[in-house]
Amino acid sequence: MANVAVIGAQWGDEGKGKLVDWLSERADVIVRFQGGHNAGHTLVIDGTTYKLHALPSGVVRRGKLSIIGNGVVLDPWHLIREIEGLRGQGVDITPETLMIAENTPLILPFHGELDRARESQTSVARIGTTGRGIGPAYEDKVGRRVIRVADLADRRTLSLRVDRALTHHNALRSGLGLTAIDRDALIAELEAVAPQILPYAKPVWKELDQARRRGRRILFEGAQGALLDIDFGTYPYVTSSNVVAGQAATGSGMGPDAVDFVLGIVKAYTTRVGEGPFPTELDDADGARLGTRGHEFGTTTGRQRRCGWFDACLVRQTAAISGMHGIALTKLDVLDGFDRLRICVAYDLDGERLDHLPTASEAQARCVPIYEEMDGWSDSTRGARSWADLPAGAIKYVRRVEELIGCPVALLSTSPEREDTILVTDPFRD
Ligand code: IMP
Repeated sequence: MANVAVIGAQWGDEGKGKLVDWLSERADVIVRFQGGHNAGHTLVIDGTTYKLHALPSGVVRRGKLSIIGNGVVLDPWHLIREIEGLRGQGVDITPETLMIAENTPLILPFHGELDRARESQTSVARIGTTGRGIGPAYEDKVGRRVIRVADLADRRTLSLRVDRALTHHNALRSGLGLTAIDRDALIAELEAVAPQILPYAKPVWKELDQARRRGRRILFEGAQGALLDIDFGTYPYVTSSNVVAGQAATGSGMGPDAVDFVLGIVKAYTTRVGEGPFPTELDDADGARLGTRGHEFGTTTGRQRRCGWFDACLVRQTAAISGMHGIALTKLDVLDGFDRLRICVAYDLDGERLDHLPTASEAQARCVPIYEEMDGWSDSTRGARSWADLPAGAIKYVRRVEELIGCPVALLSTSPEREDTILVTDPFRD
């Protein structure tokens, strides 16, 4: 039985929501393995729109087991609000349908405060974070002072963990001019939320092992995109987790061979939110047109996304690093009607031709894209359900993308509607 990992191949917002939903219908277990409620996945099912941030996309489908893995950072108050919001839409979420790894680190209110305080300091270059405390929570995990889901079960442990965290944070806060954290109030808040979270807490590595032995199909649902990966992204303008496919194993508690098919979600052009290098960014009418036609506004923060031409160098790179077996190409219809299209095939760095993005951020910022130009197409690709429905120019574009990134198209998404999908290879093939 094949297990599939879905990851974003660019800077996030590639349209993972629809594809994850499409795949989750075929899966038995859906696992989030990194990130937190900085993510925003929009699902449209039978005309109802669901907006998910921390919860795996499987929660909106009956009969699926959804898992929040240890690689995630979890804001317990946000989670409860998200669950209540979905219940209000008629979605049933119980400890039988949702499990949270006991070793999942918690995002606490002071993480968000620290994130926002740093971002508002003009002396330090901004990252443009979502302000949700993701980075500070991961820092605490690696710093061995984070509070984890299992700690909520024992009053004494919780109090020790809080003291350990506050020793660090109060010193830091004093340097930033923030008031000290009220220890007792924080413990009281955690004790109040604990009974709402603990029923979902499980050793999920065990559940996943059993699911695998029983031949259940597991879908690993990535958030953000590989270029925001803490190791391989455009550091320091990245998120604080590993986003690449390798994280599916460590972020859930399975072996490296748990994933049989890595599906990269690739938008037919490029977007980015927040700061950082973006070689093919357009600040002209073409960029504005991509933004308007593609509705490029963030699901989580509402921020306008930066837009640019497709960058084949970047996707070739992320496809290799994540070992992608195939891609799902999305939003091709946004390119309908352009007279000419450009694809970045290499960079010029001080007169030298590079076929990959260099590692140093200062060099990344100086990369000038080398483009290949193609004729556009005038007919619409929107809603196409077979190759025969696509204009010849669009097919040529897709084939050129495959060639340049060295990875085949497994799925082509031609509108937000789930049926508007051309299936080339089923990632869940047996
Ligand atoms: P953080 O994850 O909130 O720390 O933000 C770090 C960087 O990742 C910023 O550039 C954010 O805009 C970006 N980011 C975080 N989550 C997402 C996402 O789900 N989609 C796109 N960009 C994201």
